Amino acid sequence: MADTLSITDNRTGKTYEVPIAEGTIRATDLKKITTGGDDPGLATYDPAFMNTAACRSKITFIDGDKGILMYRGYPIEQLAEHSTYLETAYLILFGELPNKPQLEKWTHDITMHTMVHENIKKFMEGFTYDAHPMSVFISTVAAMSTFYPDSKQIFNADSRRKQIHRLIAKTPTIAAFAYRHSTGRPYVYPDNDLSFTGNFLNMLFKMTEVKYSPNKKLERALDVLFILHADHEQNCSTSSMRAIGSSHVDPFSSMAGAAAALYGPLHGGANEAVLRMLKEIGSVDHIPAFIKKVKGGEGRLMGFGHRVYKSYDPRAKIIKQTAYEVFEVTGKNPLLDIALELERIALEDEYFISRKLYPNVDFYSGLIYQAMGFPVEMFAVLFAIARTVGWVAQWEEMLLDPDTKIARPKQVYEGAQTRDYVPLGKR
Ligand code: CMC
Repeated sequence: MADTLSITDNRTGKTYEVPIAEGTIRATDLKKITTGGDDPGLATYDPAFMNTAACRSKITFIDGDKGILMYRGYPIEQLAEHSTYLETAYLILFGELPNKPQLEKWTHDITMHTMVHENIKKFMEGFTYDAHPMSVFISTVAAMSTFYPDSKQIFNADSRRKQIHRLIAKTPTIAAFAYRHSTGRPYVYPDNDLSFTGNFLNMLFKMTEVKYSPNKKLERALDVLFILHADHEQNCSTSSMRAIGSSHVDPFSSMAGAAAALYGPLHGGANEAVLRMLKEIGSVDHIPAFIKKVKGGEGRLMGFGHRVYKSYDPRAKIIKQTAYEVFEVTGKNPLLDIALELERIALEDEYFISRKLYPNVDFYSGLIYQAMGFPVEMFAVLFAIARTVGWVAQWEEMLLDPDTKIARPKQVYEGAQTRDYVPLGKR
């Protein structure tokens, strides 16, 4: 049986053969289906890329119906249980788990790049005290390209590697500085004796103690959360990273764009929105009225639903478990009871069942972050730190893919046809 698709164009009666490869047809193959004359040929209309693969990738696999997520073939459950964020980052970037010397070198390379240029601190001072840390983060990542003009050498493998080290290593420092700025506290420099997440907690929360020592359980919980958020194939921010990077701009500029996409409440801003929603609901008694409003089209149940997962989000399962471990240390987040009851009611409700709406990664992550002492404004920033490795890995894969061209979707033009300019006095 040939791997082809036969298409009959009923407008002309002509039949065309289009090759099928890897479960897809090439959209450009449809161009030959034309009615003649100046008809440019058939195109597909797919706003939001609901059924269009925009690239090939070897990094992350998701089966949304079965609730499967794997990085480089390793199930997320196994990585969350056994790996660390830095080890997982290596896996995502290089395709294989590192051996001991490789992991040591990688950890050293990242740890040695955690400091930021002193001028970065200075311009961060320019933001108002109540500036949203995610806006500060996005702007600072963009500004980093001014400090590293060598980052323009995107086809030089050594330069790419250096920028990748810088991005993974410095995003926690920038994020922590953004947080300290918002609280009016002095910036804390990185402590290279600590783990990736241990040092991050140090830069956020160290006060007058000589040496900060992170709570091991919270350090591990944050590491697990970072593993769960490290990559998620072609989501809104990652496809922004690829699209911007396809213009051959430097990775700092591309990543500022990706982080901006992540900021939105339908993407990485969702866990902040979940917390605000839970606060607004206020008590378990108010849940039925809230659900009624959502079903009536007034707002959404934040932290529910996913473009890809239509059975459950495997990250949400792990996060729920992690939440209980964190609450053992911090005490229970008082909003947990509302979240649990909301989840219970929604999962029994025909509206959510028929639309296959389940808790996603963000439903519980905000509760954990809040219990750990993060203000809600920091939630998307935490997501961005973890996602940095996914963005840079996908960016590099895009650059090295011979199929890559500058991203440039088509449109279906529905505007006015040619008409003559009318002088102002005659309109
Ligand atoms: N609450 C209530 N109804 C919903 C929700 C929700 N959270 N999500 C989807 N729906 C309804 C929607 O109204 C529509 O109903 P109908 O068919 O009657 O018009 C149907 O479900 C399909 O929704 P959609 O908007 O076409 O689905 P989508 O795939 O475009 O959207 C989504 C996916 C994640 C943007 C959406 O589910 C949503 O807005 N969820 C809340 C925000 C959220 O939690 N985002 C975090 C996503 S996970 C983290 C990440 O990767 O960024």
